Amino acid sequence: MKISIIGGTGYVGLITGLGLAVNGHDVICMDGDSRKLNKLNNGELPIFEEGLPKLLKEATDRNKVVFTNNIKTAVRKSDIILIAVGTPEGKNGDTDMSQMILALKLVAGYMNNYKTIVIKSTVPVGTCDMARMIIKDNLNNPMIPFDVVSNPEFLREGNAVSDFLKPDRIVVGVDTPKSEVVMKELYSTFDAPMIITDTRSSEMVKYACNAYLATRLSFINEISEISEKVNADIHAILDVMKLDKRIGSHYLNPGPGFGGPCLSKDLKSLIIFAGKANADLPLLKAVLERNEMQIRNIFDYVMSELKDIGSKKIAVLGLSFKAGTNDTRNSPAIHLLEKLSDTKTRIYVYDPVVKNLEEPLHTRVAFSTSIMDTIMDADCLIIMTEWPEFKELELEIVYASMKTPFIIDTRNIFSPSKAYQLGFRYKGIGFAGSIFDNTGVALKNII
Ligand code: UDX
Repeated sequence: MKISIIGGTGYVGLITGLGLAVNGHDVICMDGDSRKLNKLNNGELPIFEEGLPKLLKEATDRNKVVFTNNIKTAVRKSDIILIAVGTPEGKNGDTDMSQMILALKLVAGYMNNYKTIVIKSTVPVGTCDMARMIIKDNLNNPMIPFDVVSNPEFLREGNAVSDFLKPDRIVVGVDTPKSEVVMKELYSTFDAPMIITDTRSSEMVKYACNAYLATRLSFINEISEISEKVNADIHAILDVMKLDKRIGSHYLNPGPGFGGPCLSKDLKSLIIFAGKANADLPLLKAVLERNEMQIRNIFDYVMSELKDIGSKKIAVLGLSFKAGTNDTRNSPAIHLLEKLSDTKTRIYVYDPVVKNLEEPLHTRVAFSTSIMDTIMDADCLIIMTEWPEFKELELEIVYASMKTPFIIDTRNIFSPSKAYQLGFRYKGIGFAGSIFDNTGVALKNII
């Protein structure tokens, strides 16, 4: 099939475009970003993502993908137009729909025959209905038929290529039999259950999934806090919880809070459009609030433990919002650094793939060239991202390199018993002696 992706050099657009291309479709990745287009036309990638270089090579070797800024040609040459533009957080947490509205108007203006318009971006419920009206109002010829379809993505950064090529499920929201046929053909080579529903349910399901994942994370972070305060151990608790088939084992690792461009943004958006539909969402508001507490608690702990912080060196390992990506958007590490950099302390940072930060933060921290340089003579080591190379660190060498052997491990990547044996002051998340430890509350006060 002939497909155009509007926003085709963005994270979702590019992976979708290349993924469809290697499935045999002819894909035009259209985007206004000439810097990214130039890179792609030179065989380079604008984002760091496992498996993406191979996917780009395969799609280009087979002549199945074109990168262009020409939207008119992209629309006219395609039967299916996927819109994957950004829908970032706007004012007060609302979704900024300006790129979506512009894309729909431009697409409508160039349509010359029947098209299936597929909304890939994460959008508030009701967007497909709005899209239909925008397209109708902007068609050059009001007789041109079209359908609008919702087709949410569930790509995780770091796993996005395999998530796209081998999805758990494909969700399609359609309002006409014709667009259902088109979408079935589009995904006919994929070995995954396809759930066909109406456009509003399809739009809603993306929010439901992300809200559920976020809820699990805030839940386990909250259980971790209480475990610390009552001298229980989250490792043991998780061993038991994960064996319960009703609970399962995913999305239960305690940490510095969920980050990244999606979970918080989508939760805020959901809370706002639910409010407009007269639905209050106290549970999901609390999920967000709990998440924001994580970094505050970690920062407060650092401040309370590092007396005379102005004379100290803090080493921070990990800047991206999780391992496997160079994305620092809404990264817990960045939130912590912003707070720490307001103190007079010296901060040394290292991440295997993130080598720049936005100003003013970039100049307020020192980038080290290696893990060991970062750690050398540090008074405190804070692990913020669970990169494999951090997990492989030999604690004996870390101990010998630091000025004060003190580790705050917000990802629980090290063995607490090994750290204690070596003489570290070691704080993880969710067990006694950990960051939420409140020595003022003796167990006898609770029992
Ligand atoms: C998420 C959804 O998983 C994906 O389906 C959607 O399309 C986009 O949003 P992503 O933002 O890439 O994907 O990250 P994800 O892997 O879900 O992790 C989100 C955050 O939760 C990260 O900061 C991660 O470190 C944290 N996390 C995840 C934990 O703290 N513990 C866990 O057990 C899992």
